[in-house]
Amino acid sequence: MLCNRLKFPKVKELRAGPLARADIGVESSQGNIGLSDWAEKPAEMAEARAGRGAARAFIAANLPLKPAPGLPEIVIHTATPASGLRRLAAGRNPYWAWCWAGGLALARHTLARPQTVAGRRVLDLGTGSGLVAIAAARAGAAHVLAADSDADALAAVEANAAANGVTIECLHGDLLDGPPPAADVVLVGDLFYDRAVAARATLFLERCVEGGAQVLVGDPGRAFLPLARLAPIADYPARDFGDSGEDEGRARVFSFRGRSELSSRPQRSDEPGARVCAARPG
Ligand SMILES: C[S@@+](CC[C@H](N)C(=O)[O-])C[C@H]1O[C@@H](n2cnc3c(N)ncnc32)[C@H](O)[C@@H]1O
Repeated sequence: MLCNRLKFPKVKELRAGPLARADIGVESSQGNIGLSDWAEKPAEMAEARAGRGAARAFIAANLPLKPAPGLPEIVIHTATPASGLRRLAAGRNPYWAWCWAGGLALARHTLARPQTVAGRRVLDLGTGSGLVAIAAARAGAAHVLAADSDADALAAVEANAAANGVTIECLHGDLLDGPPPAADVVLVGDLFYDRAVAARATLFLERCVEGGAQVLVGDPGRAFLPLARLAPIADYPARDFGDSGEDEGRARVFSFRGRSELSSRPQRSDEPGARVCAARPG
């Protein structure tokens, strides 16, 4: 399996147990920057874009474009055994080289319910390949910002955005300890696989909600999902990158609840009146 070949933790282990922080290799050339800082630094952003040129060329040459699993309308540069990813991502886990189950569910939801993002400013936090950001752009978002702490992820987002004919602003950095973004909608696909990141992400998303943003999380049930903060609104068939054909699972889309909403009982997705999308066949 690809994940074993790359010495990745197996996808099932991501659901069941903790990953060491060192497995992630989080880096940020810009430190913790908030979107207001970012908006004032167009020169730095252009420089970062230029610096990603080699990674983007590698991705275009070695990761073939494939339809996202269950989402044939979006193509993604996807790693194969022949991609030689170690040459690019030595010592780091190139999570951006595949679509993850949480992102697939969230992208499906965004396309099925374009009103969620249409005309609004969207932040895709932990964008990876950019799948969710691309879905938001396709669904008519006014502006899409894709953020990731791995610079190669942004190279992948640029390549994937170009392949899908959409415009996405890229931000290399770790926003989690900074101020809430200037975004109306924050989309988070599959970010709750690590205890420390999950704890920081939960506090960050709380600040986003307090600042007036709507926050949606897509997740197949990873180990550190903050379920007490989440109200399920839909679920979809979604295959994780390491799963075989027989093993297709499902992933849910949740609305992240701010502190003021916590006293109310979470709405179940299967009860009358719940906002459930009809999941399309995988
Ligand atoms: C499992 S991947 C999911 C990618 C994509 N959202 C999807 O669903 O396909 C998680 C992504 O979050 C990024 N990430 C992890 N910690 C982060 C942080 N503190 N800030 C920004 N991105 C982070 C990783 O680099 C990786 O690209």
